Amino acid sequence: MNKKLHFVALVGTNANFSFNRILLQYMKKHYADHCDIDVTEIADLPLFNENLVKTPPKPVIEIGEKIANSDGIIIGTPEYDHAVPAALKSCLEWMSSAMHAFRDKPVMIVGGSYGLQGTVRAQINLRDILDSPGVQAKVLPGHEFMLPHANQAFDKDGNLINKKTVQFLDECMKAYMEFVHALRV
Ligand SMILES: Cc1cc2nc3c(=O)[nH]c(=O)nc-3n(C[C@H](O)[C@H](O)[C@H](O)COP(=O)(O)O)c2cc1C
Repeated sequence: MNKKLHFVALVGTNANFSFNRILLQYMKKHYADHCDIDVTEIADLPLFNENLVKTPPKPVIEIGEKIANSDGIIIGTPEYDHAVPAALKSCLEWMSSAMHAFRDKPVMIVGGSYGLQGTVRAQINLRDILDSPGVQAKVLPGHEFMLPHANQAFDKDGNLINKKTVQFLDECMKAYMEFVHALRV
């Protein structure tokens, strides 16, 4: 029998409260029969500093090793000013210099925001970053899970309320799992 896939799900913010964290925790629960999702915080990472690339701080090494040992990464990105939050960009800067943990790793992007367009611009920004020579991730093509009005999307237990939204997420997750398997052969 195939071993269950193990994914690292990066919470793309350092905020104590985050709808994107709730989304990733929901995915962990909802897909528990199919894969292992380790919801991982980036809040402990210091701001990227090129002076430290050769002697990266411990939290950078820890997160880089976690990513390198995973079967893939799911990134839950908020949208700040039509781009990814600085905390997430900083994490990716560490991961494109001090370590190259994303290289050839399959990545799924998900994101929820207050706006009607549910992180569309942040996701375009994130795809570009993940495609840069230092990162070189393999980003799931053709599927983008966006959650508009994220502040109204969950019930008190952190479950997505709308069945069509769950269906959309299931389709994206199915495509991601197939993508991960396709990259492994
Ligand atoms: C600095 C800042 C900029 C923001 N810019 C956007 C934006 O460009 N588009 C958008 O839909 N929401 C924007 N928002 C609102 C976020 O969608 C909202 O704060 C959301 O809850 C962030 O995700 P999180 O809950 O996972 O932290 C912004 C919020 C902040 C704090």
